[in-house]
Amino acid sequence: MPDPVAPVETNSGNDRFNAEAAAWDKKPFVHAMSLEAWKAIQKSVPSLFIEPDNSLGRPDILEIGCGTGLLTLEVAPAANRLVAVDAAPGMIDVLSSKLNQPNAPNNVIPLALLLEDPEDTMLPPAEQAKPNGPRLKFDLIISHLVLHHIPDLKQVLKTMLGCLNEGGSVALTDFEDFGPEARRFHPEYKMDGVERHGINREWMTALMLEVGFRDVKVEVAWEHDKVVENYPGEFKLGKPAEGEGNRMKFSYIICLGKKA
Ligand SMILES: C[S@@+](CC[C@H](N)C(=O)[O-])C[C@H]1O[C@@H](n2cnc3c(N)ncnc32)[C@H](O)[C@@H]1O
Repeated sequence: MPDPVAPVETNSGNDRFNAEAAAWDKKPFVHAMSLEAWKAIQKSVPSLFIEPDNSLGRPDILEIGCGTGLLTLEVAPAANRLVAVDAAPGMIDVLSSKLNQPNAPNNVIPLALLLEDPEDTMLPPAEQAKPNGPRLKFDLIISHLVLHHIPDLKQVLKTMLGCLNEGGSVALTDFEDFGPEARRFHPEYKMDGVERHGINREWMTALMLEVGFRDVKVEVAWEHDKVVENYPGEFKLGKPAEGEGNRMKFSYIICLGKKA
């Protein structure tokens, strides 16, 4: 099925995220959206968090595109193990330094990795006694504001399916592609690494079903106002200067599916 929005020309998204890593947490927007994502994930997968079957214990969770760990550190107390993967080593360096703080959770495994293979040997083994054996499978896979950066979403969804336990779930959050105006989510100077302007609900539902997920639901989880450029290239200082920009409402979707 073709992507309804042609991918945007990019050079290296990794370069962009390595460069942004040290200052990532200074933006209030990224904190607020990670908290919304965590609320949406708990509500959407209540069997793991709100009404957990305690006989099953806490879930093993894989996060793809964890960045500096804003969502990771919210989720960690509810997880058994949380493997946090990001393709940009600069982002993982920031997360690792947070994990070295005295009160940090000790169940997070940060990995600088572009995950393309469910049996990648950087992932933890399923059994400690067999370090070279099959890799750990997860009860839940999460990702937040990452899908719109991924060139081949079908391939990544297949990889996610391969990383899940039977009956395991994905809960993936991103902004919605609601038409041409969705392009305004990113100012022009942040287009590097943007592969599509959000996630279209119908297209994503069809893609997840095609890859083999069941119980697929792609729905709006929350809305948020964002300051956007009035015209492409307006923000020249790396953020809106006094009097620049306009507030615009964006919807955020959660993409849910299970492995049969
Ligand atoms: C917009 S940032 C979001 C980071 C974090 N989730 C947050 O909300 O603060 C997107 C992140 O996804 C990572 N990323 C993009 N494609 C990826 C992939 N295929 N595998 C792992 N990480 C990826 C980037 O390196 C970047 O850190």
